[in-house]
Amino acid sequence: MSSLAPWNISELLLLIISFLDQQSLARAARVCRSWSHVALDALWRDVDDLPRLLALLCPYAKPSKLTTKYGGTISTYVSILTPHLTRLTLRLSTPIHLIEDDVVPFLLSLRKLQFFSISPYGLSTKVVEALSRLGYLKDVSLLPPGERGKGNRADVLGFQPLLKEGAFPATQRICFSADIPHATRLISSPFFPSQLSRLYIHVLSIAHADVLQQLFATIRDSCPMITDLRVDFMIHPHVPLSVPGWPLSERPNIATFRPLFDCRRITTFEFRWDYALNLTDGDMEEFAVAWPRLEHFLLNCEPIIEFNPPLATLAALLPFARHCPRLHTLGLYMDADSAPSDVPALPFVALRELMVGASNINDIDSVTLFLSKLCPLDCKLVAGVRWPDAYGTALDCAGILDERRPRMCEYWVLWTRVVEMLPVVIRARMQERSLRAEMQREVDRLALEKSEEAGRYRELQKELLAIRVQRTSANVASTS
Ligand SMILES: *[C@@H]1O[C@H](CO)[C@@H](O)[C@H](O)[C@H]1NC(C)=O
Repeated sequence: MSSLAPWNISELLLLIISFLDQQSLARAARVCRSWSHVALDALWRDVDDLPRLLALLCPYAKPSKLTTKYGGTISTYVSILTPHLTRLTLRLSTPIHLIEDDVVPFLLSLRKLQFFSISPYGLSTKVVEALSRLGYLKDVSLLPPGERGKGNRADVLGFQPLLKEGAFPATQRICFSADIPHATRLISSPFFPSQLSRLYIHVLSIAHADVLQQLFATIRDSCPMITDLRVDFMIHPHVPLSVPGWPLSERPNIATFRPLFDCRRITTFEFRWDYALNLTDGDMEEFAVAWPRLEHFLLNCEPIIEFNPPLATLAALLPFARHCPRLHTLGLYMDADSAPSDVPALPFVALRELMVGASNINDIDSVTLFLSKLCPLDCKLVAGVRWPDAYGTALDCAGILDERRPRMCEYWVLWTRVVEMLPVVIRARMQERSLRAEMQREVDRLALEKSEEAGRYRELQKELLAIRVQRTSANVASTS
């Protein structure tokens, strides 16, 4: 009978254990071997206070030392606690360089680790080198900046991991923070994992277009399997911004991105920079033609606005509708003041989200009409920037306080009106289309009826003719 008790059925045990608080989980972990695995997994899944957790499992004598050097404690408990740990999230409460000497051996002991994430600025040179030696590690990611913790940007400024043969043998995705030359150096290592399919680079500072092009060429050469690439310069208060932006001639243009067009598997591409890029509507066609498998494409839709509108217009959307049937998320920075006269030949089929960021807009009616021909009914239009507070403070810090700020708000208000009107207009268009289709069906039916009648009429005429001929020949016979 006892073998049928709920706690002997592992699914039920898991379910029951998932409702326990940390203290009870720690108790459960000490009951028996089979409970211990399940309870420890649940305990380690989300650790926000490591010393407290360790104390729950095994009370220790000198907690005061733990706060200053809890990394040392980590390694003491590793053999006991974590041989089977597969997921680990480290939210730093202190800059990584202060605890690196303890964290590195701890990481090296996690032989089965598959998923690792850490606060931004936590992936220092030494941490990445340690992670590169874990045989099962699939995924290295950074926590969203909201959970920035006490990471320190200085810890990644000199990011120069040295990879050895067999580095990251099982890794599919890597995210890290670095300057572009450092990122290029890491990716160009002969031991950078060639099976990598997803790469996220949190860019620490803006580089010249040629330096960026070099990074893209390196990614093309070192990551033949890449499907998902994100190069993200975040606009937030602690980031260096140049005011005004670099001259257009030194900003990324289509030639900068061209090396990536050889990466034919790309389905996801995100790129964020400080100011608008030197890209025209024609250049967008090149992106769309090069990457027909695109599903998610965000191209710098929320840069710092300038006095000149961006080069790309709403017409930049058209090639993506034409060439990328699977595209569900699209974000561009456009000058929507000049609504194109071009009528969209093909609407989007899969588009669920259109992000227009800080794009300028004036005539909301013509913009709404244009988009209504292009977007499916359930497509969400999103205006504005990712983190408005961080963006605003960053602009304050950079001394950008002129009329661009209120202008951005005006654009946002106008886009919000488009957001409201768009589904109404799309629905009206759809009703009109179905009405037209119905009328066309009626016209076709009438035409068919008419042609059937005409056929019958011709038949009758033929019969009549035949009778006449018969009769005439009968007359001729009788007179002769
Ligand atoms: C913008 O990029 C194009 C290449 O696509 C280049 O010919 C042009 O000179 C650039 N514009 C400026 C102002 O430098």
